[in-house]
Amino acid sequence: MTHSFIQSVQWKENHLLLLDQNRLPEETRYHKIDTIEEVWKAIRQLTVRGAPAIGITAAYGLYLGVQHLSYGNVPELIEDLKGKAEFLSQARPTAINLRWALMRLLTRAEMDGAHGCSTEEVKAGLLAEALRIQKEDEETCRRIGEHGLTLLKDGMGILTHCNPGSLATAKYGTATAPIYLAREQGMTLKIFIDETRPVLQGARLTAWELMQAGIDSTLICDNMAALVMAKGWVQAVIVGADRVAANGDVANKIGTYGLAILAKAHNIPFYVAAPLSSFDPETPTGEEIPIEERPAEEVTEGFGKRTAPVGMKVYNPAFDITPSSLITAIITEKGILYPDQDGCYGKAIKEILGRKSQTLS
Ligand code: MRU
Repeated sequence: MTHSFIQSVQWKENHLLLLDQNRLPEETRYHKIDTIEEVWKAIRQLTVRGAPAIGITAAYGLYLGVQHLSYGNVPELIEDLKGKAEFLSQARPTAINLRWALMRLLTRAEMDGAHGCSTEEVKAGLLAEALRIQKEDEETCRRIGEHGLTLLKDGMGILTHCNPGSLATAKYGTATAPIYLAREQGMTLKIFIDETRPVLQGARLTAWELMQAGIDSTLICDNMAALVMAKGWVQAVIVGADRVAANGDVANKIGTYGLAILAKAHNIPFYVAAPLSSFDPETPTGEEIPIEERPAEEVTEGFGKRTAPVGMKVYNPAFDITPSSLITAIITEKGILYPDQDGCYGKAIKEILGRKSQTLS
């Protein structure tokens, strides 16, 4: 059974439309975005969030940043693009997809420039590349779904965290892609969704999109995961990723690390579903991945009212690092990666990234 997915990032009539994910599930409202500054703000303030969706949005943002400006020559345009790409990449530090998408646009501009394109042609190339990144992400997520589906069986209980869903990508999501594909094939899965404190992406977003798709899902508070596992209701955990280091350590939404430990303690496979655009071979291990810290109010006023005394000290990291040794497998669009005997993914990642420039499959 198929259903129509809502597209959180849209390019329509030369405008960027972003579904305001802060307003879900109460309201489905799109914002029309016309400037690079608005794009930066939308990424920073989580209007758009989720690693692949941030990358797609930033790509359109870079185009918007130069669209109406005139340049004397292509090198001048490229110089300006570099500065603007740096500006956008500062909006959020952890998800590598942001930098990845911006790099793709810069490379495209440099190549078009080298081929003698005019400044207007280079700009048109930027938009074409942004549209391509979005289209590719749809196909990438579908492939992640196909590979992930091979790990699932009818009737399984799956626990997921944050929103690694359709809203966070062009379509299908990463960790949710096998779930959507299982549904297409008539399989019945029971999904448990962590509410995901403090911003509640699980409760507000994953619950919303899985409900819309008619998928059997149950919302739990983060601190209920251990009990749900102990009861034998979970046969696999599948989460997304914001960055995968060269050794397979994974940065993902805060709470992922704890879940991986719980999964290990209960002998439950722990899978990470991530496109190759989330892999960062330049960062050797999770220790070097920058972890975003967010405003204290997300913790103290997260429910629209104060839930802690005024002036309380707060620590609010948006992500944590799950060591590769706790990850059973990483599901990518090009296949499933398994660790070496030492629990490290270094070899498998090197191998698959070596194939990255070839066609999908
Ligand atoms: O802070 P967010 O909402 O952008 O965090 C998102 C996550 O951690 C997701 O798990 C991740 O981006 C998965 S990618 C589909």
